[in-house]
Order: sequence, then structure tokens, then C-alpha cells
Amino acid sequence: MRRISFFLATLTASLALLAEANSDQNTEALKTQIDEVSDEFIAKLSSALKNALKADGPVSAIEVCKTVAPSLTNTLSGREGWNISRVSLRIRNPMIGSPDVWEQAQLIRFDEMSAEDVAGPIAAVSEIIEEPQGRYLRYIRPLKVQRVCLTCHGTKDDIPEQVATKLVELYPHDRATGYTIGQNRGALSIKVLLED
Ligand code: HEC
Repeated sequence: MRRISFFLATLTASLALLAEANSDQNTEALKTQIDEVSDEFIAKLSSALKNALKADGPVSAIEVCKTVAPSLTNTLSGREGWNISRVSLRIRNPMIGSPDVWEQAQLIRFDEMSAEDVAGPIAAVSEIIEEPQGRYLRYIRPLKVQRVCLTCHGTKDDIPEQVATKLVELYPHDRATGYTIGQNRGALSIKVLLED
């Protein structure tokens, strides 16, 4: 009898370990998938932006950031069943770019790392967070300012007058200017509900 209960206890413990290893494996696979989708987002948006700037000029390209970026996050969110958004500490569009508490903490950390001049690109962060609605895998990846961003997010000297006028018209509370190359403009944030 004792032997049987010892056997059962060992079996239960092994099964629990196996389940844990399996769920770790699932989380790792999910992280890889998230990395791929975030690469896809960045590649698609940056090529749409470059094409629009080249073909139609910066004033029309504003539409790309205004409509293409949110529609791309929506399409990818729908396709993957995740919540994908762009967030920033200095937002242009307060309707969709405002970070939540977790995102804010990560954005502040990214800025601190940039200020400390950490060598190489700042890596994305992912973390499992228990929230009242469930367990989530949260992921956030900094979006650095490159030369192409300056036309619409740079200092006064970088932003053509027509673009500045259009931006004030569309975003009267715009806080997303005055950036220089290499600063963090914001981040791509992905939130995935984990099934237990
Ligand atoms: C042609 C103008 C233009 C260029 C170039 C541009 N942006 Fe934007 N960006 C905008 C506009 C307009 C919005 C507001 C979009 C909206 O209404 O959701 C925006 C919003 C954002 C946001 C969302 C947070 C917020 O402030 O609302 C991020 C992050 C962002 N841009 C990053 C970048 C990065 C990084 C680059 C360079 C790779 C870049 N942008 C280049 C016009 C531009």
C-alpha cells in the first residue's frame, strides 16, 4: 500500500514537472512567434512610410502613420488573436498611444538605458503578468528614432513647415516632436492571454 502511494506521489510530481516543462516550452515558442510578428510589423510600416515619403511627400505620408499604422496593428491583432499597439511616454495620438502601468514602467526603463548609453540595441522585454482578467504574456520592444522619423518627430529644423502645420491641425496636443536620432520614440507592445 505504501509502495503504491509512493509510486502515485512520484507519478504526480513527475506529471507536474512535465506539465511545467511543456508550458515553459509553449511560452518560449510564443515568444519566438511574437518576435516574428513584431519584425513583420516594423518591416511593413517602415516600407509603407518610405514609399509614401518618396512617392507623395511628407504631408501625405502623415496619413501612413495616421491610418496605416493603426490598421496594421488591428490586422495583426485580429490575425494572431493578440492585443498589439504602439505606445509612448510623449504621445501624438492620446486616443491610442497611451501606455498602461506596465508599459509605462518599461518605457521609463528603456529611456534610462538609453541615457546610460548601453552598448547595442535595447532588447525587447517579455514577462508573464497575473492580472484580474487572467494570465498574460506581455512583450514590449523599443522603437528608436531613425533619420526617416525626423520629418515628423524631429526638432523644428527637421520638420518642414507644411508638415508642422498639418500636424498641429490633426493633433493639437501633439507631444511627439523634438526627438533626435537614437532616442526612443516609443515601443511596440503586445499582450497575449495565456490559456492554462
Ligand atoms: C510622415 C510623418 C511621420 C513619420 C515619418 C513618422 N511618424 Fe510616427 N507618427 C506620425 C503620426 C501622424 C502619428 C500619430 C498616428 C495616430 O494618429 O495614431 C505617429 C505616431 C507614432 C507612434 C505612436 C505613439 C504616438 O505618439 O501616438 C510611434 C511609436 C511612432 N509614431 C514612431 C515613429 C517612428 C519610430 C518613426 C520612424 C521610423 C516614425 N514614427 C515616423 C507621423 C510620422
